[in-house]
Amino acid sequence: MKVGIVGLGKLGFPVAVAMALRGHEVRGYDIDPDRMKHEVGPWREAGPDGVDPIDAVVEETRGKIRFCDMRELVRESDLVFFAVQTPSDPRWDGARPIDGIGADFSYAWLEQSVKTAAECVDGPATFVVISTVLPGTMRNRIAPLVPDGVSLLYNPYFIAMGTVIRDFLHPEFQLVGYGDELPPATLDLRSLYSTTSPSAPVIYGSWETIETAKMAYNTFIGLKIIFANNVMEMCDKIPHADCDAVSRILESATDRLISPKYLRGGMGDGGACHPRDQAALSWLAGNLGVPNVFRDVIRVREEQAFALVVRMLSASERTGLPMAILGTAFKAGTNIEFGSCALLCWELLGGQDKWAKRWDPYMGRNDEGVFDGPHVYLIGCNHAEVIEKAQELPVGSVVIDPWRQVGECRGVEVHRIGEAGRGS
Ligand SMILES: NC(=O)c1ccc[n+]([C@@H]2O[C@H](COP(=O)([O-])OP(=O)(O)OC[C@H]3O[C@@H](n4cnc5c(N)ncnc54)[C@H](O)[C@@H]3O)[C@@H](O)[C@H]2O)c1
Repeated sequence: MKVGIVGLGKLGFPVAVAMALRGHEVRGYDIDPDRMKHEVGPWREAGPDGVDPIDAVVEETRGKIRFCDMRELVRESDLVFFAVQTPSDPRWDGARPIDGIGADFSYAWLEQSVKTAAECVDGPATFVVISTVLPGTMRNRIAPLVPDGVSLLYNPYFIAMGTVIRDFLHPEFQLVGYGDELPPATLDLRSLYSTTSPSAPVIYGSWETIETAKMAYNTFIGLKIIFANNVMEMCDKIPHADCDAVSRILESATDRLISPKYLRGGMGDGGACHPRDQAALSWLAGNLGVPNVFRDVIRVREEQAFALVVRMLSASERTGLPMAILGTAFKAGTNIEFGSCALLCWELLGGQDKWAKRWDPYMGRNDEGVFDGPHVYLIGCNHAEVIEKAQELPVGSVVIDPWRQVGECRGVEVHRIGEAGRGS
């Protein structure tokens, strides 16, 4: 396949080498003449095994990457990749104390490279952005620069500097984001990856889904690291507690912790243990004077409950309808309400039945009039019975569903939170 790489920096050049290694006809272009050379630059990079230096594969691919201008690259490539920098202000690079709350990346280089490439298009073309961007950038900033007839994809790489080639050849998955329709050009991309990473699944989604997944992935790693570091800091202050032994225990919890469980959005966790344990550990960390991610866990849980309550209040104000919570147990299928996040929502609403009614088939709760006439309903617990009941609510009702399990119902406004940015 004929591929072009725009931007031959820390990511672009090793990726060009990896593609050439798999037999593709690679063209490269960089505005910096020093990068238009068959050499990796000053950075330490490993070869395909992630250990040996990259030099041997750089030698092996010498003459197999053609350095050319943008015009030739665009016109001669089936797929044009953009690996151009999207830098942050140095204040947010993590190597100095964060000043304020951070800011978006700079897209000046990416926009300029796409604009220049767009001017060179003389027929059907496919542009594939691999630079890191925040959600919304592809639609709002990049797509307007791309002429009709050009397919635009977002295909972020999950690659660590130093092992670019190995990570490119052995990714967990390939993520491919597209605009409103999946363009046929994705077949070219799939066919390229069938030669470079044949066992990695290719996952498609909207530009925004893939942009969000890329950022969420990197931040999730940060979340794991700060959690482990926080445990380390605590153990440093707790006599006889060994942080590596604690980590080994957490690592061996492959059913609930190191697993896909608890990764779907819904209500905050509850029960007789979780919230109170989070609050107690947060208190201990405060007493020990160590960093306190545990406090943030309990605080963000409450902030999310508050966000649901705000949705209820604004829907009620808009429609003039009374409010009700369907499902008050702490999790589906149980009749336990200890630590229930649904009850937390009810408390935040005023903690009185006159402000919000409650109904739960397992708790025997059935406030008078819950289903007499339309209400603003929050699906507080996703018991099967609650989801079933929610399909037959009085016409004119509004449903706020953080579980995204309530289907469309005639005459009822259903807000499935987090579903394709409906901004409910
Ligand atoms: N380096 C990595 O391992 C890695 C991993 C994942 C994602 N990323 C993302 O990939 C992007 C590139 O990162 P990088 O580390 O390779 O950056 P880099 O600064 O090392 O390389 C970018 C290259 O693009 C060139 N460039 C700038 N404007 C250009 C233009 N108009 N036309 C042609 N070339 C142009 C620059 O001269 C430079 O050589 C960033 O968005 C980064 O966040 C990088």
